[in-house]
Amino acid sequence: MRILVIGSGGREHAIGHKLLKSPRKPTLLFAPGNPGMAELGACYPVPVDDVTALLELAKKEAVDLTIVGPEIPLVMGIVDAFQAERLRIFGPTALAARLEGSKAFAKAFMARHGIPTAAFETFRDLKPALAFLEKTGAPVVVKASGLAAGKGAVVCQTLQEARSAIASMLGPEAVFGEAGSEVVIEEFMTGEEASVFAVCDGKNFLLLPTAQDHKRIFDGDLGPNTGGMGAYSPASIMTPALLERTCREIISPTLEGMRREGHPYKGVLYVGIMITAEGPKVVEFNCRLGDPETQAVLPVYEGDLLETLLASVEERLGQWGEISPSPSRNCAAVVVLASGGYPDAYSTGFPVQGLPESEALPGVQVIQAGTKIKDGVLVTAGGRVLGVVGKAESLSEALHAAYEGVSRIHFEGMQYRRDIGLKGLKRMEKSPGLFRSKEPG
Ligand code: AMP
Ligand code: GLY
Repeated sequence: MRILVIGSGGREHAIGHKLLKSPRKPTLLFAPGNPGMAELGACYPVPVDDVTALLELAKKEAVDLTIVGPEIPLVMGIVDAFQAERLRIFGPTALAARLEGSKAFAKAFMARHGIPTAAFETFRDLKPALAFLEKTGAPVVVKASGLAAGKGAVVCQTLQEARSAIASMLGPEAVFGEAGSEVVIEEFMTGEEASVFAVCDGKNFLLLPTAQDHKRIFDGDLGPNTGGMGAYSPASIMTPALLERTCREIISPTLEGMRREGHPYKGVLYVGIMITAEGPKVVEFNCRLGDPETQAVLPVYEGDLLETLLASVEERLGQWGEISPSPSRNCAAVVVLASGGYPDAYSTGFPVQGLPESEALPGVQVIQAGTKIKDGVLVTAGGRVLGVVGKAESLSEALHAAYEGVSRIHFEGMQYRRDIGLKGLKRMEKSPGLFRSKEPG
């Protein structure tokens, strides 16, 4: 079976590793891929937003199934384009991908279907938006409705911050361009966040292991938001009872609502959850797997990823009965190694040292994100450069393995968080009986 994976980040490298574990022994192709993926299959230099060229590639290379990593081609309609040519592809259509591509759509959809989320209003004009702010007060959250590479949500502690966030989006500056021409102003929710991933076939779904991301750049959740500086799986805060509630109150009504509105949801539904005093509420929907969460989720998932994705494409998930995978016997953690300066401006082109030494450690795998080969040497080529994954029977051992792996690697300006997974560890110390994974000591 020939599988094309679209993307060039850590998520797609991790997907490649997991697919190769399938007994179907697939042949992997990547577009555009990176040096890590080049070790797993052939890479083709086609950018992720060139849907026409990707379609041509899939036809020319007789691809049996295409798996889309990032949201941009999904929101652009790559699934519709492939389906029109009768090519098999995993992911939602453009209209279904609006759950991520338009926060205004997602919020209105949740309101229509009674799905728990923060209270909100949507605006296209500056004056009424500013007037509404005077009623809400602060803290409050201001979000660009469209895709903004993870930078479109501004958590504002003061009214002044909120006023300037709104002005920057709806005023003449238009910092997010068209993506910020519509703005969602929403209630600030307090609680802990977790990521839940459901593989959906339009009607039924199967849960992948849960995860917790670390979005801020600095330890202690300080500093600006990033694409994600590390993650661990499973997220111990998502107890079986909370997960059941999330399925009942959020995932099932979302699938049912999308079906009733004529846009059945196929692909990964990534639900960013806030666990509030009133229960789980949606922070955001994404129409794809998370990055870096995937790097921790897939090593813990005990199913055959290829079979799971095929069952979604062929609408067979209902036959599997179980929506929730058997509790995982393992934990995994990923620590992201980023370029100095990220998430603001950073330099690239620095040689990466110690990768083979790191991977030689037991339970350690190094996932490549922003890397390239220059004159035969692996060098940095992006903000998030590598993800060092540790896998073990307990979270503490997985974290230990990941940080041992990190200690072997070096590149100029390398920065990473030292506190990945600490929240999860502390929670387990408080109530160890709640969780299956054993913790030493
Ligand atoms: P989003 O792009 O919508 O996922 O938002 C990015 C981050 O902003 C989330 O992961 C949260 O940490 C924070 N955030 C977004 N919406 C809210 C909210 N309503 N209340 C509190 N924090 C939020
Ligand atoms: N790590 C957050 C995301 O993938 O959106």
